[in-house]
Order: sequence, then C-alpha cells, then structure tokens
Amino acid sequence: MNAINRLAAVISLATLAPFAAQAADGKGTIEVTHWWTSAGESAAMDVLRNQVKADGYAWKDNAVAGGGGAAAMTVLKTRAVSGNPPGAAQIKGPDIQDWGSLGLLTEDGLDDVAKSEGWDKLLSPTVARIVQYDGHYVAVPFNIHRVNWLWINPEAFKKAGIDKAPGTLDELFAAAEKLKAAGITPLAHGDQPWQNATVFEDIVLAVMGPEGFHKAFVELDQGTLTGQKMADSFAALKKLAGYMDPNRGGQDWNQATAQVIQGKAGMQAMGDWAKSEWTTAKKVAGKDYQCIPFPGTAGSYTYNVDSLAMFKVKDAGTVAAQKDVAKIALGTHFQTVFNQNKGSIPVRGDIDMSQFDSCAQASRKDFDEASKGQGAQPSMAHNMATSLAVQGAVFDVVTNFINDKNGDPASAAKKLGAAIKSAQ
Ligand code: GAL
Repeated sequence: MNAINRLAAVISLATLAPFAAQAADGKGTIEVTHWWTSAGESAAMDVLRNQVKADGYAWKDNAVAGGGGAAAMTVLKTRAVSGNPPGAAQIKGPDIQDWGSLGLLTEDGLDDVAKSEGWDKLLSPTVARIVQYDGHYVAVPFNIHRVNWLWINPEAFKKAGIDKAPGTLDELFAAAEKLKAAGITPLAHGDQPWQNATVFEDIVLAVMGPEGFHKAFVELDQGTLTGQKMADSFAALKKLAGYMDPNRGGQDWNQATAQVIQGKAGMQAMGDWAKSEWTTAKKVAGKDYQCIPFPGTAGSYTYNVDSLAMFKVKDAGTVAAQKDVAKIALGTHFQTVFNQNKGSIPVRGDIDMSQFDSCAQASRKDFDEASKGQGAQPSMAHNMATSLAVQGAVFDVVTNFINDKNGDPASAAKKLGAAIKSAQ
C-alpha cells in the first residue's frame, strides 16, 4: 500500500470530528507544526513568529524536535486522524500532493494572496508545481536549501597538513586519512536514518552524476537501483563510514555540526541548514569555515524547498492568519532575513544576494547554472523526490547497511531495488 492509501485508510477508520474551531486571540490564532528546533533553525523561525505576532495574530508553536522531520510527520498524522489538524504544517515536496488528495488542505484559501502578491511570476515553475494541488496554491514555499555541501573547519585541515579542499571522492578519502592521522574525527555524523541517507545521496550523485541520480531516485529505475554504480556507491559509503566517529550514535545533525565548529571533527556532509549553526556561533563563511560542493558533485545541486502547507479549517481567524503567514513568507524583507538566518537562499529569484555571505552567493549562482540543464535534482533524503514510503525504504536499506560490518555493497543494491519496488 502506498503512502496515500495507508494514510487514507487510517483516516477513514477514525471518526472525523468537525475541525475544531480554534480560539481566536486578537485577530486569530495559527498553530504551526514544524521541526525547526536547533539554535539556527529556531532563530530563523523567530523571524516568522515575530512578524505574525506583530500583525496581530497569536502563534501557537507545535515544534517537534528531530531533524529531517520524521517525528513531526508522525505527530501531524495523529492530529489529522483525530480531526484536529494545526492551521499550518511543514510539509514538503510530493507529500503535499498526498495530503491534498486526502482533501485535508485548504482548497482556495491562498489563491487571493498568491494573486495579489504575484506568486506565479515570483516562483519558478518547478517550485510553483510543488506547492500547488489541483491548480490551487495549498502551501507557501520559504527557501531553497542545497543538500550536497561539505562543511570544513580550516584550522583542523591545517593541523592535519591538508592544503587543498577535496574535489573528488578520492581526495575526500585522502583528506579523511590525514585528519585521522592527526587525531581528529574526519567526518562528523549522527546515525539517524535521514542523516545516513543524506550522505548516501551525495555519494550517488558523485558516482552517477545528476542523470544517474534522477534515474535512481526520481524514476526509481530498477536497472539503476540494482546496478554496478549503485554497488560502487554503497562501497564508497562503507569506506566513508569508516572515517566517522565509531561512538557517534544517533546524535542530532547540529551536534555533529558543533563538533566541526569546535575543531573536534574536520568535516560534515550536510545541507546548508548546517550553516545556521555556524552563524549562531558567530562564525564567518570563507574565514572560520569553508563550504564546498560535496566532492565529485560540483555543477550539480540537490535542492530542498521548505514549505508550510495550510490545512482546511473553519475558524475565520485562523484562515486570516494562514493568509498572513503566506503573505509574509514571500515578502522581500522576510525572504532576506529569514534565509540569512536559515542558511538557505531565497525562493524568489529577484532578491539582492549582496546582502548574503559567500556560501549563499555560491549557492544562488550554482542553482541558477544547474537549473539550465539536468544539474538541479530534488533531494531524496529531504522528501523532494519520492513518496515518504519510498524514501522510508531507502532509509532502511542504507541504515542497515551502514550498521552492518559485513554488509556487501552488491547485495545492498539488490535490496534497495527490492525495497523500493515493494514500497511503490
Ligand atoms: C530538512 C529541512 C531543513 C532542515 C533540516 C534539519 O528536512 O528541510 O529546513 O531544517 O531538515 O532539520
């Protein structure tokens, strides 16, 4: 059963209480389910929270910790099943279509805002498609995160005698070896399934290029999923895992970032929300840390667009607050300040990037370049490429492989193909 059917089955079993009218405070209240709880994520969310409050609405925060959002999605499903969804929730990518097809999202609640604010012109067709269901805007996009980054502590590199940032997988392994010899953890990481999948998709992109990545994670092509290059990707993952702290456990991504900030680790492969932690630690891009495309992936760009989807609610105050959030989110000022805090780039292409740091400027340039051809690809690990069921199948296979000392790359590729097939 696919994700929609599974969720639909659960919901049809529950007695759907009429959507609870939400207590209006001032002009109205909006409850928002999200997972932006790290220092940097929270600073970015404050920009929205403060503006909504300044506009006269009450903000009810339903923050569910856990990077990547799996825990938040579980909470959201429970809320939806009991007929008590929040006004807005962080839902991304193809999952928006699944929620829309259940009839749970607003139908035309954002169309007037989209029209008066000119969203059709502000958003690229790719992004506009993601946040629309059945021809209506049902979610508001915030940003574009790049996933395929490598974050480097230059001091740690210096101590290890590395004079050049790695540009290929082989150079990455060579740098890791030097860091190890210098007594520094080469790659900071936490064994959470989404973190494992983030590193894995970087490697697949490096090994197969954007076309292979597309065949694997967008087309779900069995030949690619089970082929030699996928086996090579698993082999590279195994090698890279050997450079992660053996006692890492399931630490959160921001704890891993902290290890690199403190110089206990030399590198982290993570999307640019990691930059928000460097920013809150008052570190400067290009000086205190370096951001480079994950080795072997320069020219390609795995994107991750954050969005808040609006639920169908009866309370007029909440509906007004939903429109307010939507209006704020795509405003010029918000797009600048929010994204400076979040580590991402504006989802609008017309924002002056001179107010951003060198990583964000490189991200904008690389995104625009990569979007001209096949280089820009939706991130599988961050819910942009597949249904959550298919993504879950990848998470399982990759995580089992990383934790199995005897894991065989070729059989992992076969398992990946089979697991995806049964999740489809
Ligand atoms: C991603 C999300 C990012 C970031 C990250 C870690 O899925 O899109 O905005 O917050 O999880 O929590």
